[in-house]
Amino acid sequence: MLLVNKEEKEKIAGAVIQPFVVDAPAVFVCCLDRSAYTRGLVEKRMDELVQSNVISEEAAGYIYQRKMPEQVEDVVIPASAYIDLGIAVEQMVLMAAALGLGSCWVRLFNPQQVHEALNLSETIEVIALLPVGYPAETTPPRPRLSRDQIMINY
Ligand SMILES: Cc1cc2nc3c(=O)[nH]c(=O)nc-3n(C[C@H](O)[C@H](O)[C@H](O)COP(=O)(O)O)c2cc1C
Repeated sequence: MLLVNKEEKEKIAGAVIQPFVVDAPAVFVCCLDRSAYTRGLVEKRMDELVQSNVISEEAAGYIYQRKMPEQVEDVVIPASAYIDLGIAVEQMVLMAAALGLGSCWVRLFNPQQVHEALNLSETIEVIALLPVGYPAETTPPRPRLSRDQIMINY
């Protein structure tokens, strides 16, 4: 996650469609780093999990045996990485709300333009923006689908 300052916000203004995004006092640029999916870094993370008793050595061993890319150029980002990013961003949304702040997931923007404007490394993939600030207004909740419309009972 990259928190952009006022000057950087001006740089990414051309990449967004909705002006509120850069009007917000803080904008997080939410990214994936391809280098995190190479063998060396995955193993480092697994070692940390073993040391903190989150997973067993046996489970880590199973992961070490997997064919993993050595070079960042060979990395195919797994679907789980996008799930992880979604979880991380949504935690930020919830924390912002708990602090009385408003936020908004933003995907309606040009990620390549943000990447270039911020001069990010080639291993970084920009996924979403999260503007955060005190809400200017309180809007009524939007209509929700009922439980029967979103759940299937077997
Ligand atoms: C993946 C994703 C992308 C979104 N992109 C945008 C966006 O580009 N612009 C925007 O105004 N809202 C965007 N939203 C926010 C939604 O419009 C919506 O306000 C938000 O998910 C909260 O849902 P609710 O209004 O039903 O409570 C996005 C939401 C998600 C989950």
